[in-house]
Amino acid sequence: MGIKNKALRWILPSCLKSAVTHKMDSRIHVAIHSSNSRISLSDISDPGSPLCLSDLSSSKFAANLHIFTFSELRLMTSDFSAVNFLGEGGFGPVHKGFVDDKCRPGLSPQAVAVKVLDPDGDQGFREWLTEVVLLGQLKHPHLVKLIGYCCEDDHRLLVYEYMARGNLENHLFRKYTSLAWETRIKIALGAAKGLAFLHGEEKPVIYRDFKTSNILLDSDYSARLSDFGLAKDGPEGDETHVSTRIMGTHGYAAPEYIMTGHLTTKSDVYSFGVVLLELLTGRRAMDKKRPPREQNLVDWAKPYLKDHHKLDSIIDQRLEGQYSTEGARRVAALAHQCLNHSPKSRPTMSQLVKILELIAQLRDVPFVYTAPAESKAEDGKIKERKEDEYEDDGKVKKETGRKSRRKGYRHKHPVRARGVYTDTHLYRAYKNEMISVGIEGR
Ligand SMILES: Nc1ncnc2c1ncn2[C@@H]1O[C@H](COP(=O)(O)OP(=O)(O)OP(=O)(O)O)[C@@H](O)[C@H]1O
Ligand SMILES: [Mg+2]
Repeated sequence: MGIKNKALRWILPSCLKSAVTHKMDSRIHVAIHSSNSRISLSDISDPGSPLCLSDLSSSKFAANLHIFTFSELRLMTSDFSAVNFLGEGGFGPVHKGFVDDKCRPGLSPQAVAVKVLDPDGDQGFREWLTEVVLLGQLKHPHLVKLIGYCCEDDHRLLVYEYMARGNLENHLFRKYTSLAWETRIKIALGAAKGLAFLHGEEKPVIYRDFKTSNILLDSDYSARLSDFGLAKDGPEGDETHVSTRIMGTHGYAAPEYIMTGHLTTKSDVYSFGVVLLELLTGRRAMDKKRPPREQNLVDWAKPYLKDHHKLDSIIDQRLEGQYSTEGARRVAALAHQCLNHSPKSRPTMSQLVKILELIAQLRDVPFVYTAPAESKAEDGKIKERKEDEYEDDGKVKKETGRKSRRKGYRHKHPVRARGVYTDTHLYRAYKNEMISVGIEGR
């Protein structure tokens, strides 16, 4: 989200209080074990843990991270200038910057995103520390890379690799153009791999804040999960869940978690189902601008997912019919399973990865001619708007002049090349596939 979206983030009032109390408390401790196992996130939230913050820099995972001074970060971001401003969420403002080996020997010259903890914001020291501890230890092609951090006086900042295309939310809900079907599947698959990695750790990690604004996109639309401030260690051994304060974003959190505070990896699977719906429909998880019955995406879309005849009517019109019929059915079936009220009946993330890999191989996207987006050239002729006329974050570059206009009947009335629909029930249709990845009957 390019602008502040604090209103969307919610926490129980009592929890907010405790988060604020500890916001700048450098006495919050990090337990550092001598074994090779990951430093536990639960140790961070235990104020009674034995080691102090100064141990952070000497701990084993800090070897992967650069510790920046505040003045270095000011230099890197041109003093946090407005020109370098990328956006702001619950944590605080994010600015683009540049680093090279003059700043830190061994650092290759690269763009970075610098996130500044806002002392008056929704999140605090604990979220900052969670991010440092977790991303200092976990590396994966579908998790955003933390390059370093700053912890000087009251300043708490995080320095990430810069993701050239910003977040999924800004691309998916753009007014005039959106993402191609294949790109949506690529993003879903990448994000699923990121979550599957977290859940598959020896000590599983529950991400807890899966949503489109937290899925960052590289120049080739490769997805990386960002924002680990709310992440929690999952249940271990005989535990069925972890009990925790309820935090998250409206429209994405699993119903049983909201009702009971019981958190499992299946809570993330529910949120994944919501994002699948957003990719399918091009609608936001919560949209107050829509009629009351359509504001909550899950409530509105769920009845359509089971019926192939109806499914077509909820698919994002901006795809202009250019999507895989088979793929859309399978994505709808997956979303329906992820959104199951019973957490046990939801698939695991590794099962979802396998099915999304199959969906990514489907090649039945129909070719439908669409009039190109147009803009007027200086000589008055209509010229086609090219991909490189968009900013990396998806906005139309200013110098291209007038806003993208789309003309003609096809744009207003997309014609879908219909596949052959049958009344066969959703699960019967995909039964074999679900058995092969072990979802069926769960
Ligand atoms: N590594 C990065 N590279 C490029 N842009 C980034 C990076 N990290 C964050 N941003 C951008 O900065 C803006 C703010 O991100 P941030 O994660 O703080 O808030 P958010 O995701 O919009 O909201 P929330 O607080 O609910 O997570 C977003 O537009 C995001 O795309
Ligand atoms: Mg975010």
